[in-house]
Amino acid sequence: MATRTVQTVRAGENNAKQRASTSARNSAVDTVRNPATDLAPATPRPASYLAEFAADVRASLTKQPQRELPSKYLYDELGSALFEAICVLPEYGLTRADARLLQRHARDIVDALDSPVQVAELGSGSGKKTRWILEALARRQRTYYYPIEISPSALAACEKEMGQIELVSVVGYEKTYLDGLRAVATRRDTQDNLLVLFLGSSIGNFDRGAGDEFLREVRKTLRHGDALLLGTDLVKDAATQILAYDDPTGVTAAFDLNMLARINRELGGNFVLSQFRHQARWNDAERRIEMHLVARSLQEIHIPRANLRITLEPGESIWTESSHKYVTSEIDDMARRTGFQCIDQWVDAQWPFAQNLFLAE
Ligand code: TRP
Repeated sequence: MATRTVQTVRAGENNAKQRASTSARNSAVDTVRNPATDLAPATPRPASYLAEFAADVRASLTKQPQRELPSKYLYDELGSALFEAICVLPEYGLTRADARLLQRHARDIVDALDSPVQVAELGSGSGKKTRWILEALARRQRTYYYPIEISPSALAACEKEMGQIELVSVVGYEKTYLDGLRAVATRRDTQDNLLVLFLGSSIGNFDRGAGDEFLREVRKTLRHGDALLLGTDLVKDAATQILAYDDPTGVTAAFDLNMLARINRELGGNFVLSQFRHQARWNDAERRIEMHLVARSLQEIHIPRANLRITLEPGESIWTESSHKYVTSEIDDMARRTGFQCIDQWVDAQWPFAQNLFLAE
C-alpha cells in the first residue's frame, strides 16, 4: 500500500517532479571542503540567486540613516542549523509554547475545518511541531502537506520527517512564502479546503503595516472555507524578551553574525566577525525586539560581488531583524482588517504566546 509520498518543487520548476528523497543532497559528502568558500548550498541555486542576493545586500547596506540586511538571508544551511539550536535554548520559550499549543489543541484546530483539508506551511523549517496537526488530520483523511521553505537543508529535513507519517503525502516547495502559496493554491482541487500554517510568530518579522499587507496577499490566494493558523508572540517583560534574543551561550549572536559570514562566503566580503557584536534592543513604541550587529571599531567593508564599499563608524549598527510582539486584544482586528475572522485563540500558560485560527471570510 503506497501511503507515503515525498516530492520537492524547486524555485523555477513548474511541475512537481517525483524523485528519490535522499539522492542529490547526499552525493557531495565525501569531497574535501575549503571552509572559506565551500559551505556550498546543498542544492544548486537558480542562476538569478546570486545577482538578487548581491542587489539586496547592496540596497540594504547603503540605507541611511540606518543600514540594514534582509533577515531572510539569515537562513542558509548553517543559519538554519543555528536557528534549530535557538529553538531549544532555555531563554527562547517561544518555540516550545508554540509546540505545546499545537500538541494540546490539534484536535480543536482541525475539527473547526471541513474535510478534505490540505495543509500548506509558510517557512516550515524542519516542520517538527506541525506533526501534531498532520497526525490529527490523518486520523480522518489522507492528508497532503506542502511545506514552503527557502532553506534547502531545512526543507529536506522536513520532508524526511513528515514523510514518515502514515497517510500523509509531502510535496515541498523551495520558494518564498507567497510564490509557494500561489503554486499550492493553483494545484489543489476545487473541493479541497486549505489550512495555511504560519507558526512561530514569523508574522512578527514584518513591520505592522507590512504584516497586514502580507496577510491580505495570503487571503487573496484563499477561498471561503480556507483557514490560516497564525502564531503570535505576546508582549512580556522587557528583560525576558531581551534574553530570548541575546542568550548567554551566544547561539543567537552566532546566528546573527553568520549573515556576515555568509556574505563573505558567497559574495567575497571582508567582514571580520570578531569586530561586530550582536545586540537585541526592545523598542517600546513599536512593541518589538530589534536585532543589530554593532561595529566595535572603524570598519572598511568591501564586498566585490555586490560591487560595494562602505565605511562603518565605531558603534554604528546594521539592523538585521525585528520581532514584533502582540497583545491578544489586537488580533481580532488584525483578522478583520485583512479579510479573515478570528474564530479561536489559544494562549500558552507558561510563555505568553497565542495560536490564532483565522477563517477566510
Ligand atoms: N524571527 C524569529 C523570531 O523573531 C527568529 C529569531 C530568533 C531571530 N532569534 C533571532 C532572528 C535572532 C534574528 C536574530 O523569533
